[in-house]
Amino acid sequence: MSLPESEYMSPTWRDGLFNNRVVFVTGGAGTICSAQTRALVRLGADACIIGRNVEKTEKAAKDIATARAGARVIGIGGCDVRNFQSVADAVERCVKELGAIDFVIAGAAGNFVVPLSGMSPNAFKSVIDIDVLGTFNTVKATLPHLVTSAEKNPHAKAEGRTGGRILAVSATFHYTGMPLQAHVAAAKAGVDSLMTSVALEYGPRGVTSNVIAPGPIANTEGMARLSNAEAEIGSRVPGGRLGAVRDISDATVYLFSDAGSYVNGHVLVVDGASWRMGGANGPGVDSTMQYPNYLFTGEISKGLAGGKKSKSKL
Ligand code: COA
Repeated sequence: MSLPESEYMSPTWRDGLFNNRVVFVTGGAGTICSAQTRALVRLGADACIIGRNVEKTEKAAKDIATARAGARVIGIGGCDVRNFQSVADAVERCVKELGAIDFVIAGAAGNFVVPLSGMSPNAFKSVIDIDVLGTFNTVKATLPHLVTSAEKNPHAKAEGRTGGRILAVSATFHYTGMPLQAHVAAAKAGVDSLMTSVALEYGPRGVTSNVIAPGPIANTEGMARLSNAEAEIGSRVPGGRLGAVRDISDATVYLFSDAGSYVNGHVLVVDGASWRMGGANGPGVDSTMQYPNYLFTGEISKGLAGGKKSKSKL
């Protein structure tokens, strides 16, 4: 059975907005990126999602395809964004089977909660590689197709079809600095910076390059990795609630639509103004934990997905 539309998209958008468009998505089986893809597919696009886990990626592709009768959604598993050839091969298959790449979402990311004292060089490198190198590899492999798409879809066409758009899914941790997230904050700063260079180098060719920075979003893999205190975090957000995945899908539809044509080199923060509340009581911190005490005791939230099970070796 198809996921109810209200769970992944607001009723704001018109049918067929992305007819005959193709979106290529890294990390497309994840909770946020699959919702973004589902909204684009529902509005007419075909999609290619890639991920490391074969079964999870293929299953997500089949599920996303239920958003619209006749939708073509390819799931390519066994694909690691850290390996350029792996991404390039997926891009080639996408173009061969779906005919083009008009939009790209660089969403593959790595995260776990750990203090600097317990972070090995390889732990830091793993996240930098997935986020920064992975985004670079995605940019590098897809840009020729985005340039072609932008040439075919110059602004502004009467029917409002767009092409040549790329966005990266980032975070807000580096705006304030964030304990227990040094690796991710550094990586996301790199991602944001890279996307502005894309905007400056490829804007003249009609490509737009932007970033969406989600805040705390309910029922996501990211939230499971970062906090056990969803309700409490939601109550502290100036917007009064945790985000929903559809908040991120709606921002994506806006940036890829004709309405977003003049938005380039931008970071669109979708967080209910959450980051402005400061960083010290963010990921890995329960209500029982106080900054800076948890840094002295080495405590992090219990039972987080991806959380360290044993004491750090460092
Ligand atoms: N705390 C401290 N270090 C950790 C850790 C944790 N919770 N989890 C992994 N690491 C370290 C490992 O010990 C290893 O370092 P070492 O070789 O010095 O021991 C390093 O990170 C790489 O771990 P490994 O499991 O080999 O990497 P991987 O490439 O298989 O997995 C991760 C990458 C670590 C980012 C993994 O969490 C992952 O696959 N994440 C994908 C999903 C995800 O994070 N999504 C985020 C959505 S917000």
